[in-house]
Amino acid sequence: MAVTRVCFVCLGNICRSPTAEGVFRHLVDEAGVSAAFEIDSAGTAAYHEGEPPDRRSTAAAASRGVHLGGRARQFRREDFARFDHVLAMDQQNRDALQQLAPDAPSRAKVRLLRDLDPSSEPGSEVPDPYYGGPQGFDIVFDICMAACGRLLAELQDTDGR
Ligand code: 4NP
Repeated sequence: MAVTRVCFVCLGNICRSPTAEGVFRHLVDEAGVSAAFEIDSAGTAAYHEGEPPDRRSTAAAASRGVHLGGRARQFRREDFARFDHVLAMDQQNRDALQQLAPDAPSRAKVRLLRDLDPSSEPGSEVPDPYYGGPQGFDIVFDICMAACGRLLAELQDTDGR
């Protein structure tokens, strides 16, 4: 079976992208199609390399029945060869990824996660919750749930799953 490889990318890889990864993995498992996907997340920065997801993100997700795992790592140029879809959480990270991309086909793999959700304005971002209160983490979760649902629908459609 062909596997579709998806990577979610934020700045630190401890808040937003692990949330998107966990939510997407949850939706894929629920849909019974986990064998058809490889799912990962990474950060454009290396500040938090090796750390687990922020406990505030883990708590927000756990309260909705979603487990977050993994360890933070930096997105590398070689990752463009591995992933089919690279979903950026905000414009700064989208721009950083497009600059890192080795060629035009790689650049074309990069999109804003919220651009998958037709109820968001084009160019919408997943807001960075790191320096804010706990409600920011719930907002991130809700945004990821909406966009990841659309992402799964799009990929099941285009890949015939
Ligand atoms: P993330 O959040 O990009 O969603 O993982 C952040 C985590 C850490 C920092 C900024 C954003 N930081 O500046 O350390």
